[in-house]
Amino acid sequence: MNIDVKPAPASAGMLLEPPLLARVGVIGAGQMGNGIAHTFALNGFPVTLIDVSTDALARARSTIAGNLDRQVKKGVIEAGAKEPALARITDATDVSAASEAALVIEAASEDPALKFRLFAALDEVVGPQTILATNTSSISITEIAGRTRRPQRVIGMHFMNPVPMMALVEVIRGLATSDATTATVTATPVHTAAPLRIASARFMCQTTNHAIGTRIREKMERAAKTSI
Ligand SMILES: NC(=O)c1ccc[n+]([C@@H]2O[C@H](COP(=O)([O-])OP(=O)(O)OC[C@H]3O[C@@H](n4cnc5c(N)ncnc54)[C@H](O)[C@@H]3O)[C@@H](O)[C@H]2O)c1
Repeated sequence: MNIDVKPAPASAGMLLEPPLLARVGVIGAGQMGNGIAHTFALNGFPVTLIDVSTDALARARSTIAGNLDRQVKKGVIEAGAKEPALARITDATDVSAASEAALVIEAASEDPALKFRLFAALDEVVGPQTILATNTSSISITEIAGRTRRPQRVIGMHFMNPVPMMALVEVIRGLATSDATTATVTATPVHTAAPLRIASARFMCQTTNHAIGTRIREKMERAAKTSI
């Protein structure tokens, strides 16, 4: 189901109204992580951007600043939106900095062991209501969720590159992902240059083969579970 969210000015106060999420944690400040942090910050969310590499964090901030400049030049955002967006992003090098986040989006390197470790660690430091999302292209959401004590609050959010420009996010449920988690994630209006942001996986084909593979695997796992 597509959520029909109209684009709004980046500074619009309404973007912070309930039931929207408060602080967003982003794990990994690489190509995808910097785009995700950029997009949420531009939409008024305070963001904690976490990477083990301080160089990656510095590069991400410089990339985000450059991309915001480009958006200003193209007339996508007002010039006054740039500095407030940058100011909403706090850098950190340890996952414990995500403790205040209501939503954490993991966009670290595509390594199953790394993601399993990260989710186990995140589960320890965030609040019980926090939703943990992964941007993985190929790893089972169910397997990642199994490293936590909150599999019902773990979900796939597969952003497209370049994130600030792309209208769609593939939302991938794991076997245990709850309806409430899916509803919260799909109701989070994050606007980009394009008019529509969040879509449910079932109705989307505009994604990578790897991500489709993830989706198919989730469906197979679901089918296997229900046929036992
Ligand atoms: N690049 C794409 O087009 C694309 C598209 C969709 C999804 N993805 C997925 O997004 C994720 C990130 O991809 P990317 O292209 O941004 O990778 P990238 O290599 O650009 O960035 C990965 C970042 O993760 C950081 N990292 C590694 N270990 C970490 C840890 N323990 N804690 C915090 N940070 C850590 C690295 O330092 C690096 O900065 C992957 O799962 C990938 O499959 C990528």
